[in-house]
Amino acid sequence: MKIDLTGKRAFVTGATGGLGRAITIGLAASGARVALGYNSAAAGAEALAALMPGEGHLPLRAPVTDSAALAEAAAEIRAAFGGLDILVNCAGITRFVPHDDLDALEDQIIDDILAVNVRGVVATTRAMRPMLDASDRGAGGKAVIVNISSIAARTGMGSNIVYCASKAAVDNMTLSLARALSPKIRVLSVAPGLVDTDFVKSLSQDWRDEQAARTPLGALAQPEHIADAVVAAAGLLTYSTGAVIAVDGGRPLG
Ligand SMILES: NC(=O)c1ccc[n+]([C@@H]2O[C@H](COP(=O)([O-])OP(=O)(O)OC[C@H]3O[C@@H](n4cnc5c(N)ncnc54)[C@H](OP(=O)(O)O)[C@@H]3O)[C@@H](O)[C@H]2O)c1
Repeated sequence: MKIDLTGKRAFVTGATGGLGRAITIGLAASGARVALGYNSAAAGAEALAALMPGEGHLPLRAPVTDSAALAEAAAEIRAAFGGLDILVNCAGITRFVPHDDLDALEDQIIDDILAVNVRGVVATTRAMRPMLDASDRGAGGKAVIVNISSIAARTGMGSNIVYCASKAAVDNMTLSLARALSPKIRVLSVAPGLVDTDFVKSLSQDWRDEQAARTPLGALAQPEHIADAVVAAAGLLTYSTGAVIAVDGGRPLG
């Protein structure tokens, strides 16, 4: 089934990352006009905007730890698009720290992860809310926020303890925000399992094979699986809010 987002206006944070890129392309391929939020990858956002299907996409400086910059980004979206119907909070960071090595999990690492992965979701949502509230083009008449969380929120397994906790916080905020922002805005989490992005491809084949073998569906996720879930959340699941959509091949069952 082709999901039609023609006429919808979307903003993706972390738009040039491994998942953000696929999500941004997926939204554009479904007809949406997309603002491509970047932190450091200005050139990458320009290049991606130029090759995406459709027209009028907007590379946009949007560091999620800088609320003044987010206010400027909101103003730019309003000026270029006239409003916003879909927000995807995709920007996220982590560092690999073994869970039993608490000494290596330094305060600065903790603060940085929480600032981007948790505070960034709140700050971006806060900046974009007036436009989302005013949206009359959301699918099913509602604007939508899709928060990219992680299987780590549920399993407590992931790159480090605080990363897992940050994604649990995202899923929890999806619940609170879905209630608080209703009825005008739906809020959903999309929770990927391990995705075969460039970073994961750079790890050993044996390790990747082991991860795939532990997954009931027998493979790692591709970025397009996550993009499909975001497009479905935006354009198809119009009576769903406050839900966490797992896109993990059933890994927690394995
Ligand atoms: N990859 C996986 O297997 C996986 C699994 C589950 C969940 N996730 C989640 O999916 C999301 C995307 O992951 P990914 O694999 O695509 O990561 P990635 O390739 O490392 O990309 C991270 C993105 O976040 C942006 N970013 C970092 N700090 C930022 C800040 N302060 N302000 C705004 N943007 C910032 C980066 O922007 P610039 O490049 O412009 O600096 C980049 O676009 C993250 O939330 C991650 O936790 C990933």
